[in-house]
Parts: sequence; structure tokens; C-alpha cells
Amino acid sequence: MRVLVTASAGTQRLLAAECGDLDLRPRRVPAHGVELDLTWEEIARALVHLRIAQRVLIRLTHFPCDGADSLYDGARAVDWSRWVDAKQTIAVAATGRLPRANSPSREAGQLTHHVFASQRVKDALCDQLREQGGGRPTVDLDDADVRVVARFHGDSCSLWLDPAGAALHRRGYRAESGAAPLRETLAAAVMRASGWQGKRPLIDPFCGSGTLLIEGASAALGLAPGRDRTFSARNWRHEGSELGPLLAKAQTAARAQAEQALASAKLDVLGTDLDPNVLRLARGNIARAGLKDQIRIEQADATRMPRPAPGTVLVANPPYGERMGGDEILGLYAALGRHWSTFTGCEAHLLDGHRDFADAFGLPWTNYLELSNGSLPVLLRRYELGVDQGR
Ligand SMILES: C[S@@+](CC[C@H](N)C(=O)[O-])C[C@H]1O[C@@H](n2cnc3c(N)ncnc32)[C@H](O)[C@@H]1O
Repeated sequence: MRVLVTASAGTQRLLAAECGDLDLRPRRVPAHGVELDLTWEEIARALVHLRIAQRVLIRLTHFPCDGADSLYDGARAVDWSRWVDAKQTIAVAATGRLPRANSPSREAGQLTHHVFASQRVKDALCDQLREQGGGRPTVDLDDADVRVVARFHGDSCSLWLDPAGAALHRRGYRAESGAAPLRETLAAAVMRASGWQGKRPLIDPFCGSGTLLIEGASAALGLAPGRDRTFSARNWRHEGSELGPLLAKAQTAARAQAEQALASAKLDVLGTDLDPNVLRLARGNIARAGLKDQIRIEQADATRMPRPAPGTVLVANPPYGERMGGDEILGLYAALGRHWSTFTGCEAHLLDGHRDFADAFGLPWTNYLELSNGSLPVLLRRYELGVDQGR
């Protein structure tokens, strides 16, 4: 099967490396993810084990699309009875760049928004099954048996099946989060980029709900992020119905592996934050992730925290300042830079979303990666703290 594993902007190289670790060989790394040719067993492995992936999509078709009519025709050309029957529930989501509103073929019907586009695909699917005499499936946007994704590329559209249903960042441990939590998949990418593998102490001094630490510790211990979650493909009854049992098998093995890893785990991981309310949330999330014996949580001001032991890795996304005044946030960054300049032998990886962060922080960074936090462009910069860089 041709598969597209989608990733947040800037994380696709990290995702491709992660695929390689799982023996899933990328055939191409386009801007929005990684393309691979996978067997059902490999798809199950990807769904249960990939940390950075947002979705694993199975390709159905790709066709030129200049409006609602060609979308309907392209979707009608898929033999939907191979995948779904009228007794199952479906959902269709649409994403990407819709054909231009001033498409030359005026009769084509303009696709003005994604909801309308998803309805045209749903109509094509339901009309086809109804005309075949079997009735029509019901739509269930929250928990469908079969989820279809329409991806638009300006003048073409591709249709995909999403065997996970809910996006892969929904690991299940984050029942609650602070005001600006990182998406789990982005946190996993940040941790991978940091290079921390569990052998050195790790501190997140702005830990909020604890996402970076949970993702870092899970990766270091090899805990599969999808070991406990549900996948809608477990309800597939037609083509691909072998995926359900393969997922169940991969999850059982991953749970056993996690139990074993946790029994002997010894990580040195600390999360601190100024806000006692988010620390309460972090503790709950860490417990749900099975990591309460691995991650300590304490209240501290990052601008006055005790100096970490040499060799410590600090990974954090400091506040971007949405809830603070301009001077106040720049003052925080400057105080942070002053205090952290006294650390020795540490490295820091900071995901900053404020354009003046680096200047205010004031310490030299050694390299950076451009990422995206939701719709906000952010930079992950690496700093050597108190390391003699020969200058
Ligand atoms: C962008 S959020 C971090 C979100 C976190 N990565 C997560 O996934 O939930 C920034 C955090 O910094 C904390 N914070 C603000 N000023 C601080 C300070 N001086 N020292 C420590 N934490 C601070 C806030 O309480 C907030 O939880």
C-alpha cells in the first residue's frame, strides 16, 4: 500500500529517521510528511510505534480536481464497497489547498470551504453504496469505523483512509493540559532533535503539563505511544480487515515490552514550573503515562533554579508572552539568560516563538531547526551552557 505519514512542518526529516529505526523505509520525504510503501503488518507497526507522525494515511486515489463536480466524480470512481458497508459509520475530513475559487470551468461548482468538500466526498461514497442496493452508511464525525481524508493540492485531490481515526497525538495520557501545551507529536520531535536518550539528566524548567518530559522519557525507554489507544481500523470488516488483529498483536507486544522496560527503568528527569496549578496537571499526566517513578515534578522559577549538574540537558518551550506584556516577557528572557550563563557543562534546547527571544536571552546558540507550533512559526535552538567553545 502507498502510505503517507503526515508530520508537523519541519519535523519530516526527524520522522523519516524514526521510520528508519522501525525498518520502515521512506520512498520520498515531501514537505508534509513521509511517503512509504508498506504491508499491513508494517502499517500496524507504524501506527503503534511512531511518535512524531500525526496521521498514517492509506492512499485510495488521486485525480485532477477543479471544483465540486470533478471532486464528486473522482470520489465516485473509488470502489467504496471494498472498504465500507452501509451498516458501518463513516467520517470524511478535507484538508489542503482547495482549487482556486475562480476556476475557469464555471460549471464545475466552486469548492468554497473544506466542510463542503468533505460533504461532496461523503455524498459520492453514500450515493454509490445506496445505488448498489445496500443502503447508506451513517456519518459519525467523532468515532467513525471508516475515516476518509481528502487532501487538496490546488488542482488535484487525493483520497486516503485513516486507520487510526483520532489523530496520533492523542496518546491518552493527557486528560488535562496547561494553557499552552505542546502537541505530543511536536514534543516527540523536539526531544528527538535534542538527542537526549535517557543517559544524562534531563530538566524542563518550563514544564507546564509535562509533555516534553513524558515524550522524552517514553522514547528513551522505548514505550510505544500507541500501545493503549484505540484504532478505528479495529472495526474494518472488508479489505484491510487483517489490520485490526495485527494492531491488537502489536499493542499486546508493546504493552509487555513497556512493562518490562518500566520495571528496570532508572531515568533522571525533572520538570519544574512556576505555576502550581500546571504542576498538578503534569503529575496527573505523568501518572497516566506510567512514568511517575521516572519523572520528578517541583515548583521553581527558571530564572533562579538551582544550577544543574554538569552534563544535564535542558529542553523547554518558554512562554511566548501571549499573556504577558512586551517588556515583562523580554525581562523574563533576559533574566533567564543571565542566570543560565552561570551553568557549567550543560546544553539547552529551547523552542522559542517570540521573535526577540534570542536577543533578549543573549547567549550564543549553535544551531537551530525551523518548526511550527500549530500555526505559529517557532525555532528550536541549541545552546552550549558554560562549555568552553574555544572562544
Ligand atoms: C509555553 S508553556 C510550556 C508548555 C509545556 N511545554 C506543555 O507542553 O504543557 C510555558 C510555561 O512556563 C511557565 N512559566 C512562566 N514563567 C516561568 C518562570 N519564570 N519559571 C518557570 N516557569 C515559568 C508557565 O507557567 C507555563 O506553564
